[in-house]
Parts: sequence; structure tokens; C-alpha cells
Amino acid sequence: MSFSILGTGSAFGSRVITNGDFEKMLDTSDEWIRTRTGIRERHTLAEGESLTQLACKAASGALEMAGLTPQDLDYIICATVTADYKTPAQACVIQKELGATCPAFDINAGCSGFVYALNVANGFFAVNPDIKVLVIGADAITRLMDWNDRSTAVLFGDASGAVVLGKGNGLKALTIKAKGNTDYLYCINEKDEYVHMAGQKVFQFAVSSMVRDIKKVVKDAGITFDDVDHILLHQANMRIIDFGIEKLGIPPEKFPVNIYKTGNTSAASIPALLDETVRSGAFKKGEMVVMSAFGAGLTSGAAVIEWEI
Ligand code: UT7
Repeated sequence: MSFSILGTGSAFGSRVITNGDFEKMLDTSDEWIRTRTGIRERHTLAEGESLTQLACKAASGALEMAGLTPQDLDYIICATVTADYKTPAQACVIQKELGATCPAFDINAGCSGFVYALNVANGFFAVNPDIKVLVIGADAITRLMDWNDRSTAVLFGDASGAVVLGKGNGLKALTIKAKGNTDYLYCINEKDEYVHMAGQKVFQFAVSSMVRDIKKVVKDAGITFDDVDHILLHQANMRIIDFGIEKLGIPPEKFPVNIYKTGNTSAASIPALLDETVRSGAFKKGEMVVMSAFGAGLTSGAAVIEWEI
């Protein structure tokens, strides 16, 4: 027994910033951003909008799809590095807003946070399979942007994605890894509070960890690449996704993408893409879905989940 996904939801910041907007602010071009990253626009929090609002919207969508209420939840886990409060945890703020009463806590695993959170949730199901868990990936990562740094400012967006998990055997395999590194992707408290990234170093880590993790979970799940129906990669750079398509030899139509309109939304990237793909009607019951994430830590993780709704 592991768990099954019962519902999905997502929400994006309501302010849209296009590449053209950046052309007016920075020494950059729509052409550079599109060809180097695949991004055309990204959504950020509007003035007065909070990460809690995005997370609650995503959570409500997932609960509604699952046919459940906040009172039905046994745990809320939120993966984030940009919570509205330093303390309490983002998950507790979400719990309050939703009117849930269960334990709630955050985890910080960068852009891999959602896959890490699925692994943590799986531990609760091992103890008691008759529970409901809300797992949220939520980041307002543009809060940590230096808007004068063209090498990071154009890459990111704010969003939240959520899933409700319940009794079942949908999760077939999962791996998480970390390779502690404070040089390639970091943001230091009380220093300058901006994200710094050695883009090419992270790119190299991303492509190697992604291919390694996907091969592992596919093998652990007892399936082959031919059995995989959908692959959801962390939406960090279209060139990383293209590399994955080429290296894995899986047809490109099996890789849904939304990076062109979202940018990199950190821990929200995979669950938000999942929700969009589910709501487009692309998933059929019994299909195999692979997820793969990588990010600050340096962390990475991947999972194989059989689609059951
Ligand atoms: O979610 C966390 C995981 N993050 C990632 O996976 C990100 C991985 N890395 C990347 O996606 C890419 O490395 C970037 C998109 C960040 C950068 O692309 P790149 O092809 O690796 O470019 P680069 O860093 O090698 O920079 C090439 C040039 C440099 O100029 P010079 O030194 O050749 O004169 C940069 O200064 O491009 C310049 N550049 C820009 N030019 C116009 C960097 N950013 C920009 C920009 N507009 N926005």
C-alpha cells in the first residue's frame, strides 16, 4: 500500500510580466529569454496578493476534485522556501484559512520540495493507510529576486499546486536525493536576501540528476520507458526539458509543458503542471505518470504514479 491522488488544484499570481516588460527594465531581449529558456511570460503576486491565497485556491481545487472538505484532512504538508511568515509555518496559515484542524508543517527542499513532500506523506500512509493528506507546493520566489540581475530575474514566477492523497496504491516508486551545496543556488538570510545562481552549474546538475532519477524510479516501479504515458519535468528551462526528451528517448508529446507562460515556479512547478494537465483531460485511468524535480540544496527527486481518477 502507498497512496493514491484523489484531486489536484493550482493557482498562479495574477500579475503577468512579459519578456517585453523586461526589455524595458534590463539589458535583455525577448529573443534571448525565449531561445535560452523557453519562457515568454510569468505570473507574480500582485500587490496585496499573498502566497497563502494562491495556496488556499490550489488546495480548494484539489479538495473539490477529491469530494472532500478541509475537516476530512489528517495532515497538511507545504513545500516552500518563501512562506508568508517566517513562523508559523505556511501550512499552519493555510490550515487556519481553510478551517482545517489537522497537524500542518512545511518542508524546504527547493524546487524538489513537492516530490520530497510526497515521500514524507508516504510515511504517514505506511503507519495508517486510512488517512487524507493535503500536499501543497507553493512559492512566491520572485520575492527573492534582484530585479537588476538579468541572469535570475527573467526566470521565475509565483504559483501554487496541490494534491489530496488518500488510501490506495497509486505511488509505484519514489526517490529523493541531496548533494549539499551552498555555491550554485542560494539565498542567505539577512545578507542581501536575493537568489544567486550559477546557471550553468545548476544546468549540469539538473540534466544529470533528472536522467538518473527517472531511470531509477522507472526501474523500481517494474516498468519500462514504453509503459510511461506522461513525464512531468520541473519547468526550469525548456532546454533542460528538451535534453530530457532526447536523452530518455521518450516521444515529446508525453512531456506536458507550461514553462512558456509560467516561468520557474519552484516547488509549485510540478503540482501546478500536474493540475493543468489533469484538467485538460489528458490523463486516463491506469496511465503511468512520472515526475522529476531538481533545485536548491542541491536536491532532486522523482516518482512514478499510476493515475487512478
Ligand atoms: O529551479 C532551480 C533550477 N534552476 C535551473 O535549472 C536553471 C539552470 N540553468 C539555466 O537554465 C541556464 O543556465 C540559464 C537560463 C540560467 C542561463 O542560460 P545559459 O545559456 O547557461 O547562459 P549563461 O549563464 O552561460 O550566460 C550566457 C550569456 C552571458 O553573457 P556573456 O558572459 O557571454 O557576455 C550572460 O551574461 O548570456 C548573458 N545573460 C543574458 N543576456 C541577456 C544572462 N542572462 C541574460 C538575460 N538576457 N536575461
